[in-house]
Amino acid sequence: KPRQRPVIAIDGPAGAGKSTLAAHLARTFGFLNLETGAMYRALALKAIENDFGFDEEEPLLELAAKTRIKLEPQLEGNIVLLDGTNVSRRIRDKDVTSGASQISVHPRLRAWMVAEQRILGQAGGVVMEGRDIGTAVFPDAEVKIFLDADPEVRGNRRYQQLPGTPEAPKVTESALIAEMRERDQRDRTRTESPLKPAPDAVILDSTNLTLDQVLVEAEKIVRSHLPAA
Ligand code: DC
Repeated sequence: KPRQRPVIAIDGPAGAGKSTLAAHLARTFGFLNLETGAMYRALALKAIENDFGFDEEEPLLELAAKTRIKLEPQLEGNIVLLDGTNVSRRIRDKDVTSGASQISVHPRLRAWMVAEQRILGQAGGVVMEGRDIGTAVFPDAEVKIFLDADPEVRGNRRYQQLPGTPEAPKVTESALIAEMRERDQRDRTRTESPLKPAPDAVILDSTNLTLDQVLVEAEKIVRSHLPAA
């Protein structure tokens, strides 16, 4: 059955600014913002807590079947509930970040995630953010933006956000850039829905843009695809 309201898909590599952009567009157009990466992170956390490895798909699938992951959209990002527990902060830690990327290579696990995400977005009125929204989750999304930037710039932006956080003393900029490259490489080369722009996505490269410029450009893209918005 047709959606009542549109879907805006935001895809792209880690650190490109997808979350900030998605939250901004959701506020501007009165949509809900859903961070699909948080679902991969939540399952990776559950795997860590239960001493599961990331490499074998079958046990992870069984684990997924016994897991409730809830995304509660806020003005800025999502509160993430894993079996009823708020894990929003914990899932941003380094071990979970790496685990999420590792479990996301498994095809049937991805199919499970995609099915859940289609249900979340079926009524529309959502800005859904991830790696495969425009290619796999909602190939018929009304608006598709692929937000990209050079790895050095993405690593540097992450680094600038660190001061004042618990990780700050432990992280160097070059280590952050190296981690980002490693995760990119895995996300882009996996066989099942690798990270790449949908043929009909608008590519927005933020390497030489300020945050404000990115937001303005993205609003223009949305308005040109959704005349009524
Ligand atoms: O967006 P993020 O950094 O929270 O995503 C964490 C990992 O989850 C990312 O390295 C790849 C995976 N992911 C995915 O494969 N597909 C998505 N739609 C979202 C995330």
